[in-house]
Amino acid sequence: MMLEQMISSEEAMLLENEYGAHNYHPLPVVLHKGEGVFVWDVEGKQYYDFLSAYSAVNQGHCHPKIIHALVEQAKKLTLTSRAFHNDILGLYEKFVCDYFDFDKVLPMNTGAEAVETAIKLARKYGYEKRGITPDKAKIVVCHNNFHGRTTTIISFSNDETARKNFGPFTEGFISIPYDAPEALKQVLDNDPNVIGFLVEPIQGEAGVYVPQDGFLAETKRICEDHNVLFIADEVQTGIARTGKLLAVDYENVKPDILILGKAISGGVYPVSAVFAQNEVMEVIRPGQHGSTFGGNPLASAVAIAALKVVEEEDLANNAHVLGQIFRDELTAFAKDHSLIKLVRGKGLLNAIVIDNSEESNLAWDICLQLKENGLLAKPTHGNIIRLAPPLVMNKKELYECISIIKDTIMQIEKRVG
Ligand SMILES: Cc1ncc(COP(=O)(O)O)c(C=O)c1O
Repeated sequence: MMLEQMISSEEAMLLENEYGAHNYHPLPVVLHKGEGVFVWDVEGKQYYDFLSAYSAVNQGHCHPKIIHALVEQAKKLTLTSRAFHNDILGLYEKFVCDYFDFDKVLPMNTGAEAVETAIKLARKYGYEKRGITPDKAKIVVCHNNFHGRTTTIISFSNDETARKNFGPFTEGFISIPYDAPEALKQVLDNDPNVIGFLVEPIQGEAGVYVPQDGFLAETKRICEDHNVLFIADEVQTGIARTGKLLAVDYENVKPDILILGKAISGGVYPVSAVFAQNEVMEVIRPGQHGSTFGGNPLASAVAIAALKVVEEEDLANNAHVLGQIFRDELTAFAKDHSLIKLVRGKGLLNAIVIDNSEESNLAWDICLQLKENGLLAKPTHGNIIRLAPPLVMNKKELYECISIIKDTIMQIEKRVG
């Protein structure tokens, strides 16, 4: 008996509402199937996916090569824990270290876990190799950051919704404005206990905020001058999303610690990873950090297949070319349509800024109408709509999506007058 044949969209939403914690506010659409750039709801309506599970499904839904790797590995061995070796973890570790050009990787599962791992790694390195005063290590972060949902990570968030009533919080973080290298320099000049600078190359969750050219290179240089680790959180921006394999590649910046998640598995399985050179990674010794599922055989097989697809299908270049078309088209359109204040982004990580206040529901209403018109996207902070389709999209599909977006904006304009 097929479960999906037994349930309508309405019933599925009622069940989630009744039995699931209300920690999300999804668009009212119930998806049942995905292939490439498309998803289908339980009633069979087809949509373009313009969120890609927050940039996890870069390789497109259910990519046959990734699913093949998943199924074949699942028939053999799924989980051993790290109590024993398995015959694929080492191959995976070598593959990803070569792929991203690092000495070592520490495998985890979710993005937040990988960020936690990077924080622990940086602190330990600070105490053991850089002589930071015991228990005084600090990490500099940026205002409006989003690095996940754990207690430590929300400790350095300034999003009140994410923090309220979850205290007490973890100490040891200093928050500076994003895109302000001079603020970083000032902190590092004055605080010898800073060991790391944790940064998103583009702030995705904050509304696809793209910093000035040179920000990454300049902050990396400041970190080097002060013996501070440059920690890049590329969970959302990495794996070809912004038109390069990594967003830091735009400025030839080599992070001391690189954090990846989401699309490292093509969204097929939770896989995340922290990369560093030997000098940093060797401070972690047996028993000091881990995860039952981290680096399991299934994850390893899936991630190898997913990263091969990125290369074979030249997804970074496709994201670069399509992203430029997307921004050019919508920027030109916005000149005559004041509902769109701004279009910004890099590669296929873009946003249209509807208005800067959190007060109006316009972005949400636009997303509802986009859904009616066959395209799924979701507002992010403020009245901003993030637009991030799978990177396997072709030009014809992109132009069709652009016209859906334009038509939708015009429909809403008529409605609001
Ligand atoms: C930059 C960044 N870091 C970390 C995370 C957390 O990843 P996860 O939801 O897999 O824990 C996200 C999720 O959106 C993210 O965008």
